[in-house]
Amino acid sequence: MVVPTSTLPANLQHQVDKYEKQFATPTETLNKIVSHFISELDRGNTDGTDPSGIPMNVAWVMDYPDGSETGDYLAIDLGGTNLRVVMVHLLGNHKFTTEQEKYPLPGPIRTTKVKEELFDFIAQSLDDFVKKLNPNGIPEGTVYPLGFTFSYPCTQTSIDMGILQRWTKGFDIPGVEGHDCVPMLMESINKRGTPIKVVALINDTCGTLVASRYTDNMTEMGCIFGTGVNGAYYERVSNIAKLEGKLCDDIPKDSPMLINCEYGSFDNGRKVLPRTIYDVEIDNESPRPGQQAFEKMTSGYYLGELLRKVLVSEYKMGNIFPEYEAGAREIEYLTTPYILDASFLSLCEADNTPDLRETQMLYKAKLGIETTYEERLFTLKVSSFIGTRAARLSICGIAAACKKMNYETCHIAADGSVFLRYTGFPERAAQGLSDVFGWDPSLKMDEHPIQIVKAQDGSGVGAAVIAALADARQKKGLSLGLKAGAHL
Ligand code: BGC
Repeated sequence: MVVPTSTLPANLQHQVDKYEKQFATPTETLNKIVSHFISELDRGNTDGTDPSGIPMNVAWVMDYPDGSETGDYLAIDLGGTNLRVVMVHLLGNHKFTTEQEKYPLPGPIRTTKVKEELFDFIAQSLDDFVKKLNPNGIPEGTVYPLGFTFSYPCTQTSIDMGILQRWTKGFDIPGVEGHDCVPMLMESINKRGTPIKVVALINDTCGTLVASRYTDNMTEMGCIFGTGVNGAYYERVSNIAKLEGKLCDDIPKDSPMLINCEYGSFDNGRKVLPRTIYDVEIDNESPRPGQQAFEKMTSGYYLGELLRKVLVSEYKMGNIFPEYEAGAREIEYLTTPYILDASFLSLCEADNTPDLRETQMLYKAKLGIETTYEERLFTLKVSSFIGTRAARLSICGIAAACKKMNYETCHIAADGSVFLRYTGFPERAAQGLSDVFGWDPSLKMDEHPIQIVKAQDGSGVGAAVIAALADARQKKGLSLGLKAGAHL
């Protein structure tokens, strides 16, 4: 995207300069954030229970996939907006095929008061999918092993369970936090008599890492830049102090252990992130104030809301849309929380027309507002500040994990709507990494030693590979969780 250089009236230019400063993320700030991030990763590995820190959830995947895994696995991915159901055929030789369906989450389900509605919706989608795969009936004796990608923070004492620590991404369903999600899902599955058994509960970041590693052995992290923000990497068991004395004897000290960092909660303790008044408001008005501090400044779920808050405050100051009365329908739209999503900013940033015609149409379609060129230019500039800040902050978790693990050359597998669809996001993220690592500025993005690359079909395949790795361990009689009687 090219930000037009035309001038704005003095009042708007003054405001643009102010926002540019407020949303700025100079390299010194990023460096400070990365260094605090490294100590927080270590703190979480020692004790992940402090709500001001990062949980560093142990995922019980203790093997790297090598691409030779085979078998047929069912996988589901309960994300922020969709439920994806996938049948994955792992063929070995780093190859796989999939059959899949997407089931859009019914809007109100995110905040339903009846948790069974969520698990029944998942179970029903699974049942429909399995029946579609078997139009002539499911063969007698079939039990589908299921990798359940549940992209919320869970405490796992073994791979096939997970106690939800807290909802994120606007989900708020009572009666699930503090409970193991697997029996809740199994109850809904069993009610329908679908022959399915959950063999692994998986975070999307873990699935992303393992799926990419199945085909690319330079992959060291899996990251999501989407409705939520998070990353996973393999740690050495000996570096995870909170596991000391709690592992079965078959797990050697130098065994790898996949860690779902849950770094969306980085800086809940409010030590380093430069928050604007809009960030503070978003946090205060969210269902979980004080939680997911990093996510609230970087994920797609909040970017539209940040822009909307800026626009509302400019409107109230009389700097934009002066011809609309406070009670006008258009202003009611504008003052509706979360009416704008990240695609609004992305489309504004992608508008290359000389008069920003596409932004004009977007405003009309989304809010019914007729805009002047200056108002559109103002929107474009503020969007670019918010989008750039999100990308530059997002890479701090990656930089921290790579520095901590001494990864100098590797691939970071990335998935999520912001990474895949937000205009210029991958370039800005790469620039952020380059600034933090101090790479030669003449290097092109694809020459950077650490590259954020598009993940290999994310969670479906990853969940299947993780299920296959768990199966293989089980067949060898190896442990898949804490030793009996131990607690996390
Ligand atoms: C969740 C993580 C998830 C991330 C990306 C966050 O809100 O807490 O578990 O990995 O979103 O989906």
